[in-house]
Amino acid sequence: MIKFTNLIKKFGENVVLKGINLEIYDNQTTVILGSSGSGKSTLLRCINLLEIPNSGELCLGDFSINFSAPHKPSQYQPFRSHTGMVFQSFNLFPHLTVLENVIEGPTQVLKIPRDKAVKTAYELLDKVGLKDKAEAYPNRLSGGQSQRVAIARALAMQPAFLLLDEPTSALDPELEAQVLKTIGELSKEGRSLIIVTHNMNFARKIADRILFLDHGLVAFDGVADEFFNSTDERIAKFITAMDF
Ligand SMILES: Nc1ncnc2c1ncn2[C@@H]1O[C@H](COP(=O)(O)OP(=O)(O)OP(=O)(O)O)[C@@H](O)[C@H]1O
Ligand SMILES: [Mg+2]
Repeated sequence: MIKFTNLIKKFGENVVLKGINLEIYDNQTTVILGSSGSGKSTLLRCINLLEIPNSGELCLGDFSINFSAPHKPSQYQPFRSHTGMVFQSFNLFPHLTVLENVIEGPTQVLKIPRDKAVKTAYELLDKVGLKDKAEAYPNRLSGGQSQRVAIARALAMQPAFLLLDEPTSALDPELEAQVLKTIGELSKEGRSLIIVTHNMNFARKIADRILFLDHGLVAFDGVADEFFNSTDERIAKFITAMDF
């Protein structure tokens, strides 16, 4: 479980997360929705400490940091190693093949023997439908294929939570569909996923739980049907603006 207690994140004077109190559960697909600038990416990036909160507490399993008190950067490590981040822009290593991209973290960071890492990598590439691309370089892949490699690479690190920040927003609809299918399968397997998306159909279909962020606070926390039928003015306005 991930737990936020009164978590605040500011950029200069701009208070982006205004005291988040939230528990995110294992083996669920949690979808974060909200207008541009509402703090969705910042919330996600605070979980793996790509952004360091200013105050409040963050827990991940047995690990916790109170950002309101003195703490050491060495405490950040478990939050980074137990989460995997998938970005909009893939960020594959261009000089490494698909297979090498997937085994890089497991062999270098987790110190898994190469033959074992390769075996797992093939299983993961098979899962995302790209086993036949193992020897290809990223510049030979479509955007959708690249993103599926990025997902396999993140899974290879055996993260407790997989964090996906608009994983399909750089893709054409056809390529998007392939990636959504892959994420849907992970969701069905009961992986712990936290997904920021602007794709409302996908959110509705996949979410065990929807969080709606509004100006740095969680303004809705519930199931999809409840969200999409909400009479709350802010939510209704958001859904209309998303043309849904
Ligand atoms: N590194 C940064 N430095 C300064 N301000 C930042 C930084 N990252 C985000 N912000 C600001 O924090 C606010 C929230 O940004 P964030 O990226 O979390 O929004 P978002 O909900 O993910 O939006 P979008 O849907 O456009 O991706 C914005 O006002 C943004 O300008
Ligand atoms: Mg964002």
